[in-house]
Amino acid sequence: MINIIEATNVTKRFPPKVTALQNVSIKIEPGEFIAIIGLSGAGKSTFLRTINGTLTPTEGKMRVLDKDLKAIPNKERIALRRKIGFIFQQFNLVKQISALDNVLTGRIGYNPHWRTLSGIYSQDDINLATYYLREVGLSDKIEQRVDQLSGGQQQRVAIARAVCQEPEILLADEPMASLDPKLSEIVLQLLQKFNRDRGITVLVNIHVLELARRYSRRIIAFKKGALVFDGPNDKLTNEEIENIYKIEDNDI
Ligand SMILES: Nc1ncnc2c1ncn2[C@@H]1O[C@H](COP(=O)(O)OP(=O)(O)O)[C@@H](O)[C@H]1O
Ligand SMILES: [Mg+2]
Repeated sequence: MINIIEATNVTKRFPPKVTALQNVSIKIEPGEFIAIIGLSGAGKSTFLRTINGTLTPTEGKMRVLDKDLKAIPNKERIALRRKIGFIFQQFNLVKQISALDNVLTGRIGYNPHWRTLSGIYSQDDINLATYYLREVGLSDKIEQRVDQLSGGQQQRVAIARAVCQEPEILLADEPMASLDPKLSEIVLQLLQKFNRDRGITVLVNIHVLELARRYSRRIIAFKKGALVFDGPNDKLTNEEIENIYKIEDNDI
């Protein structure tokens, strides 16, 4: 497999009049770390959601892990989505249960249905979840209820949950947006670590340009649903940046 993600002329419309993605074509290779930038409303989240199949392109093709999400049966789509981890801005954890139990939900896709329903996980799953909580620096919080953890710790639980799924692709939608600058760095460093150590392909929406530049070699930018930049960090000139972030009068 050469491309782990391949979008060909992908357009996504939300009727009646929003075009969230406009004729987007891009190829992404396994093991890349990509930062996605652009103004609010530019289409960044929509792009990630068409990759993991929560949204279907209105036009065009989205191939992920060599499969066309639109063309495969449901069962296969579920198996495919198991290979795609997602990290949200608002963490999306179950607050009343422990860090460990949250991370274990990352294993749900691997277990028979009855097991999931009864909340029984194998010792292997528990070991794995514990291992990933250590990896994100939370070895002393394993049994702690999530609502007793700080925001930064909660986001690390969410990262552990996503990697415990053992995904090939990790999608992170502004995972640092509700954290202060120092915690943002920790989140990005963890994503970088899992990218480097495990070869997980990472796509991360980052609204802070400076952070995108520091952590990512390849940067892509959306503007009004169109892909307006795709290249190495050092090709992102001031002129490009001005264009990406320019707000036109008729936008307001
Ligand atoms: N479920 C939806 N229904 C209708 N419009 C949507 C929906 N999701 C996103 N949009 C619109 O699509 C455009 C792109 O949104 P989004 O992908 O969330 O941008 P970003 O993540 O870059 O801020 C925006 O105009 C947004 O309002
Ligand atoms: Mg968004």
